[in-house]
Amino acid sequence: MDQVALWETKSEEETKRRGKDFVVSLCKAPSLVLLEGELGAGKTVFVKGMAKALGISEEQVRSPTFGLIHEYLGDPFPLYHMDFYRLGDWGEVVDLGFEEYLERDGIIAIEWGGKFLSFFSPPFFVVHIVVTGEQTRRIEVSFAGGKV
Ligand SMILES: Nc1ncnc2c1ncn2[C@@H]1O[C@H](COP(=O)(O)OP(=O)(O)O)[C@@H](O)[C@H]1O
Ligand SMILES: [Mg+2]
Repeated sequence: MDQVALWETKSEEETKRRGKDFVVSLCKAPSLVLLEGELGAGKTVFVKGMAKALGISEEQVRSPTFGLIHEYLGDPFPLYHMDFYRLGDWGEVVDLGFEEYLERDGIIAIEWGGKFLSFFSPPFFVVHIVVTGEQTRRIEVSFAGGKV
């Protein structure tokens, strides 16, 4: 896995901006994005920023609860937002119908997706958000490349 970006943010707004930048300049095409970081790190905030890049209003974006996959109609492609926090094993991920979303043309953003890192096939991005202070975060973005 190669690190492709490293950002320090000092506010929620700044993390949102980085989420938007990420889609505009790094992610671009339909992709799989796994978000890691403790509860309250800013994973949902980052996804709100990603949504903005696709013309989706951030108010729409809420943390998905167990078993729910939120689908947002974006331009030029949709955003699928999932949260694997409560999932215990890969079988439960499969039961959710996760793999079906890989066939669609959209960005799939998965909070706690890093729990199952070894089960995902590249290419995918990992966005790791580290809490460095009350209002500060370090955002490390890596990319695992796939077959050419
Ligand atoms: N620099 C920052 N970036 C993102 N969120 C921040 C930052 N500083 C403080 N926060 C706060 O941290 C919380 C992040 O919440 P959320 O995105 O729901 O976390 P997660 O989805 O990772 O559990 C919010 O309450 C937000 O206001
Ligand atoms: Mg969240």
